[in-house]
Amino acid sequence: MFLEIILALITIGVSWVLLKWRYMKTFWRKKGIPHLPVHPLFGSMTFLQKINPNIWLKDIYLEYSSPYVGVWSFWRPGLIVNCPNITRNIVVKDADVFRNRLLGTGTKDELSCLNLFTVNDPLWTSLRRRLTAVFTASKLRGWQELFRSKTSDLIHRIKTDSENGVIINLRPLFADYSTDIIGESSFGIKCESTRTGTGHLREMTKDFEKYSTYRGIEWSSIFFVPEMADIFGFTFWPKHTMAYFSKVFKMIVQERGGYDKETDGKKDLLDALLKMRQDALKDNQNMEEVILISNALIFLQGGYDTTSATLTYLTYELAYHPEVQQRLYEEIVEARSNLETDEFDANDLAELPYFNAVLKETMRKYPIMGWLDRLALKDYRIDEKLTVPAGTVVFINVNGMHHDPKLFPDPNEFRPERFLPENEKNIIPYTYLPFGDGPRSCIGKRFAQFSLRFALAAISTNFIIKPLKDSPVPNDVPVETKGLFYLPSIDVSVEFVPRN
Ligand code: HEM
Repeated sequence: MFLEIILALITIGVSWVLLKWRYMKTFWRKKGIPHLPVHPLFGSMTFLQKINPNIWLKDIYLEYSSPYVGVWSFWRPGLIVNCPNITRNIVVKDADVFRNRLLGTGTKDELSCLNLFTVNDPLWTSLRRRLTAVFTASKLRGWQELFRSKTSDLIHRIKTDSENGVIINLRPLFADYSTDIIGESSFGIKCESTRTGTGHLREMTKDFEKYSTYRGIEWSSIFFVPEMADIFGFTFWPKHTMAYFSKVFKMIVQERGGYDKETDGKKDLLDALLKMRQDALKDNQNMEEVILISNALIFLQGGYDTTSATLTYLTYELAYHPEVQQRLYEEIVEARSNLETDEFDANDLAELPYFNAVLKETMRKYPIMGWLDRLALKDYRIDEKLTVPAGTVVFINVNGMHHDPKLFPDPNEFRPERFLPENEKNIIPYTYLPFGDGPRSCIGKRFAQFSLRFALAAISTNFIIKPLKDSPVPNDVPVETKGLFYLPSIDVSVEFVPRN
C-alpha cells in the first residue's frame, strides 16, 4: 500500500512536470513571439553559473533583432525587452503596474527581505519616500570634505604601494575607498581601509564579494526564482556578516542616545533611519529595528561594490587609452587654473564635459547591473501584438542596448566622445540606463556620481596609468560567472606612474 502511494505521488509529480513543460514550450510560440528554448526545470535559465547574465542578455540582444524575446525564469514567463519605447512604458509611464521586482528573498529572513532593493509594495513606497531625503544635493555637498579626505588617502595608498613595488589589484583598492566613504557618510563609523586595506566594515564587504558556488546558487535563486529562498533558507548576505553588522548598528544607535532620542534626520543615513522610525511611530506604525538594519545593509552593499567595479573598469580602460588620459588631464588642469581655490567642488566637476563623458562611457560599456527587473502586477498590453499575463517578469535589456552597434557604433570601443554634449543629444532616450529609470531607479545615483568624480579627478591629476606587461586588453578581461553583476573574474592591475 505504502509503495503504491509513493508510486502514485511520483506519477503525479512527473505528469505535472511534463504538462507544465509542454505548456512552457508552446506558451510563447502560440503568441507568435521569438523565444528561447525551454528546459523542464530551469526554463531559459540554463546559463546561470556558466555565463554572466549581462553577457547572456547582450548575446540575446545581438542574436534576436526583435523588440522583445520570450523566456522562462524557471517556471515563470518572462520577457526580455530590447526596445527603448517599451522600456519607457514599463519603467516610467506604467510604473504603477511594474512597481515590484521579481527578485526577492522570501519572508523568513527579515534582514534580507525588508530593504528598498528587495522589498515590494506597500512597504517599498513608504521606505522610498522616507529615504529619498538621505542623498539630497545639499547633503552631498556637506560631505565634500569626506570625499576629499578619502581621495587623498587613495592617492597616498597608491603612491606608497607603488613605491614599495606592490602590484595593486584595482577592485579591492577601490572597494576600500567606497566602503570607507559609505561607512563614514552613512553611519558615522571611522574607517581607515583606504589607507590600510583593512577595517571592521571592510572585512564585512570583503565577505560580500566572495563568490563561491553556494553563494552563486543563492544569488541566482534570489534574482530568478525567489520562491526558493524560504525553502532553502537563502539570504541576501552571508549570515555571519548580517549578525556582525546588526551588532555594530545597535552599538552606534546606543552611542547616539538610543531610538527615542529626538533627531531631525539630517546628519546621515543612520539619522534618517532613526527619524523614519520616529515618524512612523507618530503615525502608529511600528517601523521595526530589523527594517532599519536591512536598509543600512543595502546602502552599504549597493554603495560599495558598484562604485568600486566602475572605478576598476575605468582605470583599466584609461591604462589602454593614453590619449583619453591626456585630454582628461588637460581639461582638469585648465578648469583648476580658473578656480579661486585649489580644490574642486562637486559642481565644478559636474560641469567638465570630457571628464563626465569618460565616466558615462565607462558605465555604458560596463553597466554593473545591466538589466532592470520588473514584475507585471496585472495583465499588460505590451503592444498591439502582445499582452503578457499578470505575474510575468520583464527584464529590460540594458547591457544589450548599450552594445547595439546601431545605437552606439563600435560598441566594444571605449569612446568617451559619444557622451560629449554635441553627440549625447543624439542618444535615443531609454537606450542608456546605467542607474535604471523611473520610480525604482537607483536611489544612490548622486552619491555614486560624487564618489566616482572625486576619485577620477584625483587619480588622473596625480598619475599616468600604464598597462602591465602581459595583462589582457580590456575586451579580453573575463567577466564573473558565479556572481550576477558585471565584474571582472580575475585580478586586474595597472602601473601608476606619478606625474611630476
Ligand atoms: C556606480 C554606482 C551604481 C550603479 C551603477 C548602480 C546601479 C543601480 C541599478 C541599475 C539599480 C536598479 C534600478 C532600476 O531597477 O531601475 C539600482 C538600484 C538601487 N541602488 Fe544603485 N547603483 C550604484 C550606486 C549605488 C549607491 C552608491 C547606493 C547607495 C548608497 C545604491 C543603492 C541602491 C538601492 C537602495 C537601489 C534600489 C532602489 C529601489 O528599488 O527603490 N546604489 N542601482
